[in-house]
Amino acid sequence: PAAQDGGRPGRPHCPVSADPRARAVVRADELRRLIAYHRKKYYVDDAPEISDADYDALERELREIEQRFPDLRTPDSPSLRVGGEPAEQFVTYRHRVPLLSLDNAYDEKELREWDERLDRALGGAARTYVVEPKVDGLSIAVHYRDGVLERGVTRGDGFVGEDVTSNVRTIRSIPLRLLEPVAFLEVRGEVFMPLETFRKVNAERQEAGEPPFANPRNAAAGSVRLLDPRITARRRLDCFFHALAAIEVATAPPTHWERLGLLRALGLRTHPLNERCDDLDGVLRAIERLRGLRHGLDYEIDGAVVKVNEADLQDRAGATSKFPRWAIAFKYPPERATTRVRDIAIQVGRTGALTPVAELDPVPLAGTTVSRASLHNEDEIRRKDVRVGDWVVLEKAGEIIPQVVKVLPERRPPGTVPFAMPDRCPACGSAVVREEGEVVRRCTGATCPAKRREALLHFASRGAMDIQGLGEALVDQLLARDLVRDVAGLYRLDLDTLAGLERMGRKSASNLLAQLEASKARPLHRLLFGLGIRHVGQRAARLLASAFGSVEALAAASEDDLLGVADIGPATSRAVRVFFEQEANRDLLRRLAEAGVRTTALPEERAGAPRLAGSPLAGKTVVLTGALPGRSREEAKALVESLGGRVAGSVSRRTDLVVAGQAAGSKLADARRLGVKIVSPEEFERMVAESQAAAAGGAAGAAIE
Ligand code: IVH
Repeated sequence: PAAQDGGRPGRPHCPVSADPRARAVVRADELRRLIAYHRKKYYVDDAPEISDADYDALERELREIEQRFPDLRTPDSPSLRVGGEPAEQFVTYRHRVPLLSLDNAYDEKELREWDERLDRALGGAARTYVVEPKVDGLSIAVHYRDGVLERGVTRGDGFVGEDVTSNVRTIRSIPLRLLEPVAFLEVRGEVFMPLETFRKVNAERQEAGEPPFANPRNAAAGSVRLLDPRITARRRLDCFFHALAAIEVATAPPTHWERLGLLRALGLRTHPLNERCDDLDGVLRAIERLRGLRHGLDYEIDGAVVKVNEADLQDRAGATSKFPRWAIAFKYPPERATTRVRDIAIQVGRTGALTPVAELDPVPLAGTTVSRASLHNEDEIRRKDVRVGDWVVLEKAGEIIPQVVKVLPERRPPGTVPFAMPDRCPACGSAVVREEGEVVRRCTGATCPAKRREALLHFASRGAMDIQGLGEALVDQLLARDLVRDVAGLYRLDLDTLAGLERMGRKSASNLLAQLEASKARPLHRLLFGLGIRHVGQRAARLLASAFGSVEALAAASEDDLLGVADIGPATSRAVRVFFEQEANRDLLRRLAEAGVRTTALPEERAGAPRLAGSPLAGKTVVLTGALPGRSREEAKALVESLGGRVAGSVSRRTDLVVAGQAAGSKLADARRLGVKIVSPEEFERMVAESQAAAAGGAAGAAIE
């Protein structure tokens, strides 16, 4: 067929049938060919012929046909792109050929030394090279059998990785079917997260109260290892292939460069900036060219990979136990810039945390202009002795956010003074305190405008009450005119007041009122999250809503009651208690309830989440060691988890319980040393039975309510 030799597929010559199924067969076949053709044009040739929308329409039509006639679904169905059911855990997979790592060179001298070693190993044989960008992501091995994607495996330790096939299928630049039905093919590539996606994912995580990823590489690695492929699908990962690891056809081409060409012919994307070089000087020029180009890309490149081009010479050079001798990674040093600290400003967050931020003379660094850098906290500033007026070195290495690496003492102007954190909140003048064991200072002012602003924005955010239209500009106006002091005040706003604000017509004012009205009926966990109680993120809020069922019950819960909820730890329990002990907070909740905001859980929030207080395993961290009669390790683990406990792999001071079966080893010794409670398998079974009874009672109680 035309698509297989790269030409544009034409309409198949087929008699038109009246039978809908027969018609579907023909059309599905045609769609598959069109999809294969246009996906290669888009991903591999970087020369799309149709718009993204038209391409999506082709995939959609095929998905619809497959939905109507499920037997027409093939292993390269576009429905696989959206991610299937979540897995319990990943299966490990032993690589057919180990995934070696690369040795590094940090400058020209080290690169020349590598080439000299190579020259000796190859007895001076003439060779050429390929230089490729080293995309900063994670290594992946992908197998195709009879042209169909069969398996995707992470690098792991190089010998054994994890089978992440369902997640790999969601990556659109990885074809589900090759353009030729090759018997077997293993390719290696680098999966990464584009910077734009990385920023979006982190913004969403922050809004949801989850910790942001430190850099795109961690984000990509975390996303490939998610058990729920539907979430991976939304992370929009991307991939370039850089090596042919195994192929079962007559012969693989004799050079790496031609092999890269073969990958493209099969529909596998390789990096467009790869270059073939005749000698080492050419290699150095290619490395310099890449250095200049790398900041223009929408993903991070931390170096260049230099490879010997001739496959027979690669084989002759061989490998050490860790690296191939025929390839090396040239690492670009992290980019640095020097600039002056104009001022050190203090930001006040929602929890009252004071964060020092360096305001800088703007300076270009790694593709952007930097004018601010977080100084994290006072200990960090003291350690580096950063002062207003200082010249500092900034670095961006892997992270998007610039860091102050050090101060240049020789350029310190006279008259600077060590920076001192304020004793009073810069926003409201209230006292600030630094609690035992914390690195941050917090404002204690209950009415601090900076805290209020952040609290209002958090309450309205998407993961919380989702009040659209209540953004920064509006919150600032509401606070400046003293129209709102806390989140309950939002529900007393009226049309005339809102319509009288800047950049607010009657239309947007009434939209906002409708949004506020709708927010009153949100599930309880959204309200709990929206209150901004310390340590209560979205997950904890769900657990609390399901365990207690109402604000009133939660407010009345003791710290022990809270600790009895599976996965609610001591810090959260304490924080919830502290929150409800404040009269101002109880008053706030009364006013929210009076305004008509739901303070009880929806039935579905409570369902399936029995109250586990009183169960001896709920909330406990358990370590299993030795053999448990009649139960596999997996079974015992699942059991503990279903009863609200957590199973850890090693014993620490945080372990609550060690179950010591027959032939228990070093974990038992650790437990004795640390004084952790140890129980026999029989005692464990008793605890399980008791927990099951508690869970059954709790569930019944919840059902009656
Ligand atoms: S070749 C035997 N090519 O860098 C050769 N690796 O530090 C093995 N990487 O684990 C690797 N871009 O994940 C190769 N164009 C490229 C690469 C590349 C990124 C990664 C790869 C590898 C790591 C080694």
